[in-house]
Amino acid sequence: MKEKITDFFKSKLASFGPSIGLALLITLFAIFFADILYQPKKMIKRGFQIELSSDGRPVVKKEEKPVDLASMMKLADLNRGEKIFKKCATCHTIAKGEAAKVGPNLHGIVGRKKAFTSFSYSDAMRAKGGSWDIESINQFITKPKDYVPGTKMAFPGLKKPQDRADVIMFLEKNR
Ligand code: HEC
Repeated sequence: MKEKITDFFKSKLASFGPSIGLALLITLFAIFFADILYQPKKMIKRGFQIELSSDGRPVVKKEEKPVDLASMMKLADLNRGEKIFKKCATCHTIAKGEAAKVGPNLHGIVGRKKAFTSFSYSDAMRAKGGSWDIESINQFITKPKDYVPGTKMAFPGLKKPQDRADVIMFLEKNR
């Protein structure tokens, strides 16, 4: 009796075995290719995170620190500075002894006394006092009207710290 049962299964396996194997193989391939074709998209996080302080109110991030000029100067690029100076060149000459335009000649401006040339400066500029170093030039060209209220220099300023550092580098090289 026992033998008969095992024989029965053996004969069934012999006839069905290969086709079961083939079916399995096809199924596996189907799963494999389906995976390649429909790769599940990575989860995308939506919305934004808000930091909450201990009392449950959102934390307002402090304004960024003013950029430190010294480190900007290390990254300064003379060629870029020369290009940026074109904005200044509408009003300023840079070569030694060149005549003033709308603004005074800027040759040797780094280290020069403020309002030093024969240009007809504004009273505000004359009253400013001291010499131009890279720090004060940086402040002035950030927003001229803030550094010298009442200045004649009708220029809104250079917003990007790196642009200022680049142009200051160019001024330094023209001493
Ligand atoms: C629209 C014309 C104009 C542009 C553009 C301009 N300036 Fe001036 N600049 C002036 C005038 C006018 C003065 C004189 C300001 C005064 O007397 O108040 C001046 C003064 C200055 C001074 C002081 C000069 C001194 O002898 O004390 C510096 C430094 C200076 N400019 C730098 C720059 C730089 C750098 C740029 C470009 C990023 C620039 N300026 C763009 C018109 C201009």
